Amino acid sequence: MGKMCRSFLLFLLISLFVSFGFAEIRFTKIRSNDRPIIPFDEFWFTHNGRLELNVSQITLSDNNPNLNFNNVGFFLCTRDAWLHVLQQLADAEISCVLHSSLVKIVSNFKTLNGKSSFDSILQVKNADRYTLLFANCLSQVKVSMTVRSAMYNLEGNQNRRDYLSADETFLPKLYFLLSLVYFTLAEIWIYVLYNKRLTIFRIHFFMLIVVVLKALNLVSKAEDTLYIQQTGTAHGWDVPFYIFSSLKGIMLFTLIILIGTGWSLLKPYLQDKEKMVLTIVIPLQVVANIALVIIDETSPFSPYRVTWKSLFLLVDVICCCAMLLPIVWSIKNLREAAQTDGKAAVNLMKLTLFKQYYVMVICYIYLTRVAVYGLETITWGKYPWSSVLVGELATLVFYVFTGYKFKPETYNPYFAIDDEEEEEEEEADDVEQSKLHDEEKFGQ
Ligand SMILES: *[C@@H]1O[C@H](CO)[C@@H](O)[C@H](O)[C@H]1NC(C)=O
Repeated sequence: MGKMCRSFLLFLLISLFVSFGFAEIRFTKIRSNDRPIIPFDEFWFTHNGRLELNVSQITLSDNNPNLNFNNVGFFLCTRDAWLHVLQQLADAEISCVLHSSLVKIVSNFKTLNGKSSFDSILQVKNADRYTLLFANCLSQVKVSMTVRSAMYNLEGNQNRRDYLSADETFLPKLYFLLSLVYFTLAEIWIYVLYNKRLTIFRIHFFMLIVVVLKALNLVSKAEDTLYIQQTGTAHGWDVPFYIFSSLKGIMLFTLIILIGTGWSLLKPYLQDKEKMVLTIVIPLQVVANIALVIIDETSPFSPYRVTWKSLFLLVDVICCCAMLLPIVWSIKNLREAAQTDGKAAVNLMKLTLFKQYYVMVICYIYLTRVAVYGLETITWGKYPWSSVLVGELATLVFYVFTGYKFKPETYNPYFAIDDEEEEEEEEADDVEQSKLHDEEKFGQ
């Protein structure tokens, strides 16, 4: 436990030093760069969109006035158009992307006239998803500059600024609604626990904590996105959001593993190999959450993002596999017990329950990981929110299923212990088993 606290404090410390900038207003520094194309950010404009670009500290490695600075500048482009532009380049119809009629030029360096900074504002009237890019078709010139880009849509009669991409404007409401659902679930759960207080196990309180953390996580997520929507920056609710989301992540994985081992439901202790799974998964979850913070904070085209994203995916895959192991062990134990035991019927019921749980965990992993990414790709440009919705609904179903299947019951056929004698017997068995276990270890 002490170890967990320490790693969590370390995480908090690190997250304090990461600059928070998960927002639609971005600052980017480019230093002596000769990349022909530099992507900055993506945004979904409505019919009343604006792009504000403030570029300062511009220095070029070659100021020769004979160079054509029409060939250096910022532009907006949709994904579809970009494919055609690439085709035009390949067919040698154009020599520089800035010459294509398919891109929207924001500003080129010709207008600089020796100045080292410029501000520009561009109205976007075609509702679409655009990428802001910088093109430098002068291969011998290196560019340094500091770029501030703000993209927003104007809403309503008062032209209120909405810094969330058009496909994300509903997210604060969605998260808020979902948090209400989870608070309701937590209330129902407290009611159930109170009514069945004679048959509850420690794991039931653990479930309550996870549901409350999930609700708090959603509230802070809603506030965080709402704050970005209104101000374009995230310096309000980002810290509580990261705290709740990492706490929830760690606790959820721990809970799934604990239920999988049957801890407190089938037996009062954890086996060594089950403890080992926990000691691997919990630190990995801390790493995954640090990676998530960094992914959130960096711009979508930052090279670090790819590294952190792959690290996150790797850790996530390991955690998901590790999560399934204890369930597999429990199923194996129950199957053996059902074959040898006199109370085969009870054990068979437990076995069915754990098999169902195994399938449910796999569905949950599949829907919140694989299917969500698949949906994102398929519905790209049409219903981008569908992946968020599917992921959240799958999570909700998983929570409800887990609560329903493992709820405390006055007479729980799965975990019924007929009389005290039997309980003692089982405990004695357990002690014997763990003794055996220890002996085996010493023997090695
Ligand atoms: C950026 O440029 C826009 C458009 O000219 C201007 O209204 C805004 O004040 C500038 N912002 C900063 C921070 O310089």
